[in-house]
Amino acid sequence: MVKVGVVGYGVIGQRLADGVARQKDMELVGVADVAPTLAIRALKEKGMPYNLYLAVPDNAKAFEELNIPVSGTLEELVQKVDVILDATSAGVGAKNKELYAKYNKKAIFQGGEKNSVADVFFHGYANYEKGLGKQFLKLTSCNTTGLIRSVDCLDRLYGIEKVAITIVRRVADPGDYHRGLTNALQVDKAPSHQAVDLMTIMPHIEATGILIHTPVTHGHIITVVAKGKKKITKEMALEAFKTHDRIRVVRLADGFLGNASLFRYARDLGNPRGDMYEIAVWEESIVESGDDIMYAINIPQEAVTIPETMDAVRACMEMETDRLKAVAETNKYLGLGKWK
Ligand SMILES: NC(=O)c1ccc[n+]([C@@H]2O[C@H](COP(=O)([O-])OP(=O)(O)OC[C@H]3O[C@@H](n4cnc5c(N)ncnc54)[C@H](O)[C@@H]3O)[C@@H](O)[C@H]2O)c1
Repeated sequence: MVKVGVVGYGVIGQRLADGVARQKDMELVGVADVAPTLAIRALKEKGMPYNLYLAVPDNAKAFEELNIPVSGTLEELVQKVDVILDATSAGVGAKNKELYAKYNKKAIFQGGEKNSVADVFFHGYANYEKGLGKQFLKLTSCNTTGLIRSVDCLDRLYGIEKVAITIVRRVADPGDYHRGLTNALQVDKAPSHQAVDLMTIMPHIEATGILIHTPVTHGHIITVVAKGKKKITKEMALEAFKTHDRIRVVRLADGFLGNASLFRYARDLGNPRGDMYEIAVWEESIVESGDDIMYAINIPQEAVTIPETMDAVRACMEMETDRLKAVAETNKYLGLGKWK
C-alpha cells in the first residue's frame, strides 16, 4: 500500500482525499491545512473520516476551540507518507517543497504552481512514462487536463499536427465570493497558457488559443480545431472519444444542452458535490472544417484533475510502469467509463 498525504484541503484537496480513499492500492494517511476552514468544519461534522494535521501549529487553539481533533503537524504527516499531494493555494506548494525535500519524499503539485516546481509536467494519458520514479510531478490545470485527454485520444489513433482552441472559462468556483461577480466577459492575451502547456507536454503538436472569462461556476467549455496527419472524419473522432474511459460522449438531442445540464446530471447520479471526473464531448459539436476536425468539450474544473493525479502517484511510486494498465487501475477505482 502506498501511503499518501494531502496538503491543502480546499476545492481540489477534498476531492484528492476522496479519490485516494477510493484507490484500493493506496492508503490516505491524512490531510493538512492551516485553519478551521468550512471544508475542515464539514470534515469534523462528517465524523473525521480523514485524520487532520496542522500546517501552522501555532493555530492549534482555533481547532481546539471548535473541538476538531488533530493528529499532528504537517511535518509529522510528511514523515509518515510515501507521497504528498500538494493542493495548497497557488504558489504555496513551491514553499512546501522544501519540507518534502527535507524528508526525501515524493510530491505531486497542482496546476497553480510554476512548472519549475517539478521534475516533470505530467498527464496520465499523454506522458505517463516521463513520471516514472520521479520525485516531483506537477499536474496540468483543469482545462489543460481535459483538453489533452481529447487531443491525446485522437493523436494516438490518427496523429495530430496542430490544434486551435477557444476556452469559455468559468470565472470562479461556487462560494468564491472574493473573486467578485462580474456580469461581463473578459478576454485574455493570446495564446492561452493551456495551448502553451499542451505544447510543453506534447511538443510535436503546434497549438494556439484564446481564453474568455465568463461569470459561471459549473464548468469550462473548450472548442478545439484539430488538424490530423491525415483527415479525421466526424465518425473517426466519435469512435475515438467513445472508446476513452475519461471522455463521456453526450448529445444535445438527449437534453445535454450545456455545462449546467452536465452538473445537474452529476447531482442526479448522486456524485458527491455533483463532481464529474470525466470530460464530456457533445456529439453534435463534432464537425469537419475542410481537412480539420472541430469539437466542444466540457471541463468540470473542480474534479477533472483527480484521475490524472492518481496516475501521477502510480508513476512516481512506480506502482505500474505500463501507461494503459496504470490509467485503467485509476479508472476502475473511480468508476470511470461506467456509463458505457
Ligand atoms: N479550483 C479549481 O477549479 C482548480 C482546478 C484545477 C487545479 N487547481 C489548482 O489546485 C490548487 C489548489 O486550488 P484550490 O482551488 O483547491 O484552492 P483552495 O483555495 O480551494 O484550497 C487551498 C487550500 O490550501 C490551504 N492552504 C493554504 N496554505 C497552506 C499551507 N501552507 N499548508 C497547508 N494548507 C494550506 C487553504 O487553507 C485551502 O484550504 C492550485 O494550484 C490550483 O491552481 C484548481
